[in-house]
Amino acid sequence: MDLIAENDWNKKFQFTLTWRNDRIILSQKQRADVCSFTPLLDGFHIMDRLRISGGNRLQGAVTISGAKNAALPQIAAALLSPHPLELTNLPAVTDVENMLGVVTLHGAVVNRAAHGTIIDTSAIVSKETSYDTVRRMRATVLVLAPLLARFGHARVSLPGGCAIGARPVDMHIKALATLGADVAIENGLIVASAPGGLKGARVVLSSPSVGATETAMMAACAAKGETEILNAAREPEVADLAACLGAMGARIEGAGTHRILIEGSTTWQPAKHHGISDRIEAGTYAVAAAITGGQLELIHARLENLASVVQALEAMGVSVWPSDRGLVVSRDGPLKGADITTEPYPGFPTDLQAQFMALACCAEGASLIRETVFENRFMHVPELMRLGANIKLQGTTALVRGGAPLRGAQVMATDLRASVSLVLAALVSEGETIINRVYHLDRGYEQLDRKLRLCGADIERLTS
Ligand code: UD1
Repeated sequence: MDLIAENDWNKKFQFTLTWRNDRIILSQKQRADVCSFTPLLDGFHIMDRLRISGGNRLQGAVTISGAKNAALPQIAAALLSPHPLELTNLPAVTDVENMLGVVTLHGAVVNRAAHGTIIDTSAIVSKETSYDTVRRMRATVLVLAPLLARFGHARVSLPGGCAIGARPVDMHIKALATLGADVAIENGLIVASAPGGLKGARVVLSSPSVGATETAMMAACAAKGETEILNAAREPEVADLAACLGAMGARIEGAGTHRILIEGSTTWQPAKHHGISDRIEAGTYAVAAAITGGQLELIHARLENLASVVQALEAMGVSVWPSDRGLVVSRDGPLKGADITTEPYPGFPTDLQAQFMALACCAEGASLIRETVFENRFMHVPELMRLGANIKLQGTTALVRGGAPLRGAQVMATDLRASVSLVLAALVSEGETIINRVYHLDRGYEQLDRKLRLCGADIERLTS
């Protein structure tokens, strides 16, 4: 472990930065590690690669980790309350570490114990959240509402475009304005203030955005009076945020439906919350079982959060049934092509579109895959074609003609879900596939290579 830096403030707030196993660790003197980051500075990504030899049938059990997309807003929500929030079931992925890094930069103390991660925000301050931080992980914009609610003002950089589309935050801004905030864009920053406090109101979202629903919910908890959110996102992660806020003292009804009611002026209290399991990770391993003609038990996977995914799997000739510990996914017959359209929950998730495209490449017949949530989410297409896939793209629709054998090649990971679709395709490609830029996978998959290896995949991480 190499010491990189230490500060020279008074003893109580003495920190060190050290380098350990590709991580930068922030520690407080005489205490445990406060936080660790995988450095994602421009030009300093850890350039690990994956080597996969295809052809092995996967068999066994995989433990599904906590949901990344549930964890991120909950870490942001810790900023609302002066009392500690303990989160259990946080996945060990870099997006979560970066979000913990963001709240730490605002003065929160993050303590990792064996049972969970305790976030103590009693000493936080509202600082500007920089472009570099938000650009790296768009979900950072979720700190805007809690900081505004707690301090009456907040400045967070606009996220800008990202690999899967323009991804504006207009609905977040409009929701905060409806709740009484003055919000302006100044030099690329969202500058929000509500000196007299936020006021409950009816927030009507123009489409059911997950992030905007979460922003509105967090702001409404601190507003005076009642808030009604209409056309709210119904994703399980939204309902899980409501459960977490409820443990912190909030009064919320209807989360998980189109209409959420929140009684404001929350009296905050110390809280503990166990996050839900990751339905997208579960869906990804379901595809791994299906594509290799194997059988996997997905421990902690929940059928009720995966209905549209199970429907698509069954349409493609894959069997799914519940077990005592989660779900079992199995295939021994041929894979059949199927048409898939991504939609907000409970529709088929956009975060599984790339994985199902890899599956469609191995199915008999044609599959039409339509992306309706993000306008540019087909970066995996040219890379899958490098492995031999037959895909025609027209606007937001991909026509996949399956059945042609895939052959290993060098491919490039471009975003989280695109990258994992390449891993899945590589599991059935003849010969060896090398996947570059594995740091995209580390953002959202905990120990992907290890979990796949334990079920029989021939996969190795080549450390740079
Ligand atoms: C969340 C998920 C992401 C998933 C997405 C859709 C997290 C951390 N991320 O992202 O993995 O792919 O839901 O299920 O939970 N939009 C606007 N204006 C806004 C907000 C969104 O136009 O103010 C648009 C987006 O560009 C997109 C659509 O609405 O086309 C849905 O986005 P949204 O549901 O907000 O996604 P995120 O919350 O960013």
